[in-house]
This record gives sequence, structure tokens and C-alpha cells, in this order.
Amino acid sequence: MSDKVKIGILFGQENTFPQAFVDRVNEKQRTFPAEFVSIEQVEQSVPTDYAVIIDRISQDVPFYKAFLKNAALTGTAVINNPFWWSADEKFFNNALAVQLGVPVPKTILLPSKERPDDTNHNSFRNLQHMNWEAIFNHIGFPAFMKPHAGGGWKSVYKVDNPEQMFRAYDETGQLVMLYQEAIDFTDYFRCYCIGGKDVRIMPYEPRNPHHLRYASEMKTTGDAGKKLLNTMTDYVLKLNHGLGYDFNTVEFAVRDGIPIAIDFCNPAPDADIHSVGQENFEWVVEAAATMAIERAKTLQKGKDNLTWGTFVRGSVAGEPLLSPKPPKAATVTKSDTVTKEAKSAKPDVDEKKPAKGKKPKA
Ligand SMILES: Nc1ncnc2c1ncn2[C@@H]1O[C@H](COP(=O)(O)OP(=O)(O)O)[C@@H](O)[C@H]1O
Ligand SMILES: [Mg+2]
Repeated sequence: MSDKVKIGILFGQENTFPQAFVDRVNEKQRTFPAEFVSIEQVEQSVPTDYAVIIDRISQDVPFYKAFLKNAALTGTAVINNPFWWSADEKFFNNALAVQLGVPVPKTILLPSKERPDDTNHNSFRNLQHMNWEAIFNHIGFPAFMKPHAGGGWKSVYKVDNPEQMFRAYDETGQLVMLYQEAIDFTDYFRCYCIGGKDVRIMPYEPRNPHHLRYASEMKTTGDAGKKLLNTMTDYVLKLNHGLGYDFNTVEFAVRDGIPIAIDFCNPAPDADIHSVGQENFEWVVEAAATMAIERAKTLQKGKDNLTWGTFVRGSVAGEPLLSPKPPKAATVTKSDTVTKEAKSAKPDVDEKKPAKGKKPKA
């Protein structure tokens, strides 16, 4: 195995964070020089000389994802774990949050409006008709509908009534969507979590134009504010330990003093100085550089150097799954009869006609 001496960053269109990260790692030490990852030939089971790679882009470049899995197999500490990232999605995130006792909005998983390519009605024989009335009663209005595996606010809809919901659903094509209650919030936060221990809580106003979203102040003050910050820190750590992310953000909407986790599947979170601002940028550059150096120093030769969440580690160790905890806020409960109805509901998929715009094969 070649010596793993370098720290690398793999990135796409972003411009400010990668260079600042490389510079900071190199300023802090010389044992593990940092650079932009350079890839030539990728051959099975051939190691790279990177001790650590920070991955900022493989969600958009499947070639990179495969490269990173190969690098991880041959001992590189890839941040974030490319296997887990490939497997993860927001519905699972929410379900795990319920089990970890972190409040999340009431959420239902919807089958894609259109059938996936190369499927026909027979592919959906296990799926019952949706009971929309039960779903609407359970989730209420307004509601959010968004892809179960998405990001960057793409295909995120806020709907106020069934008509709007169906109109939005019609636009979603083959995307699998989450349908969830809208949280009417007094405070909103985005929180970096780095290395499973460093947490930066940033007031965030999603209703502002993009460049002003971080130019927001926390509204909750005094003891309530302190308590809120402590609770969010606890939830951020719980979620990231559960999922096993080294670099992630968690968003919270605060309703009645309770932080409700909205979006916590952001393994390549925005870290651009122009959106997060100078102070947050400085924090994230320093925390990421410190983590990368620490991971390079503690690298175990010839071993798996990835981080795995407590969910996966517990499964491997044969530990029983967490028992669902009663929700602190608005989470789906086991005893919720509407949820049960929704499960046994009939699907909306027309079994005779192909879905709009799709021509299923034979
Ligand atoms: N259940 C919800 N209640 C209130 N606001 C929400 C809810 N879901 C999403 N949003 C708003 O929509 C934005 C985008 O949704 P999010 O789940 O963060 O998707 P993405 O992964 O695309 O960023 C959030 O930042 C938030 O402002
Ligand atoms: Mg988000």
C-alpha cells in the first residue's frame, strides 16, 4: 500500500471554500500537505496517496462516488462516508430522528407520481390506493412536499389545500416525495456539525433572498434562548452520531420553543463565503481543517477509516433497534389511527392508463 501522506478536497463549482481549506491545512501543519484531489486512472483496489479526502461533489458526479468507495476500501478516510451517503435519504433521516427522540414534522412518503422507467402497472401490484383524505387530515395545511432525496430547494412545494397539492404532485414526475406538515416557526437555524463534535448554530431566515438568509438574528432570548441553543446542540450531535456524518448541516424550525429538525441530510453543505458570511466561513474552514488533520494523524493503515453512524454500528454489533420514542413535537405516533389508515390506503396510480407523459413498455 502506498503511503497516505496527503489531504485532498474534491469539489465542483464552488470557489471559495476549497482553496481556503487547503490553505488552512497547510498553514496549520506540514506533515500532511493539502491539495485539490487529482485523479488520473482509477483502478480497482489500487490505493490513492490521500490519507483524507473531503468530498464536496460526489452527489452530482457518480464517477467520483465510485472513485471514493475504492479509495475508502483501500484505507482513505473519506468525508463523508460515501457508502452511507449513497444509501441515505430524508425519509429514513426522519424515521431515525423519531427513534432518537428528535422532533421532526409529521411526514408521509408518497410514491412517485409517474412510474419509473421500464416499469408498468404490474410493478406496483403491492401498492394500495392512497387514502388522500386521511393523509390531508393527518398532515393538515399548509404542508410541504419535497423530494425524499433532494437538495438545493429543488422541487420543494408549499401547499395550502388539496388542489394545490395535486397540482404540485403532477409536476414531480418520477421523484419520490415527502409530504409533511409545515412548521410555522418563530426562529429558524442552520447548524454545521463537524467531526461529530463541533457545532455552529447559525440563525437563518429562509424567507429572505438567498444572499441575506444568514443575515438573521435569533429571536428567542434570555434563558429560553440558552435552553434552545443547548437543546439544538444536543439534537445536532444525536442526529449526526446516529447517521455517521463528519460534515453536515441540520436545519431547525422552532415552534412553541421546540426545535423541529427539517433538513439534516446535507453532506456537502453550502460553505461559500458569499452565502454563509465571513464569520461562519472562518469557523467552517478552521473546523474542517482541524478535523481533516486529526483524521490524517489517526489514520489506521490498511483499515476502514470511515465514520459509521450508531445505527449501522448497532446493526453490525447485533444490537436491538431503538424502540420508537414518543415524539416531543409533531411526529407520527404508532397509535395514530390516521397513519394506519394511510398505510392500508389505496394508491392513486391508475392501473389501466399509463401515468401522464409515460409510455410503459409492454
Ligand atoms: N416542514 C417544513 N416546515 C417549514 N418549512 C419547511 C419545511 N420543509 C421545508 N421547509 C422550507 O423549505 C426549505 C427547503 O426545504 P429543505 O427540506 O431544506 O430542502 P433542501 O434539501 O432542498 O434544502 C427549508 O429551508 C425551509 O425553509
Ligand atoms: Mg435545506
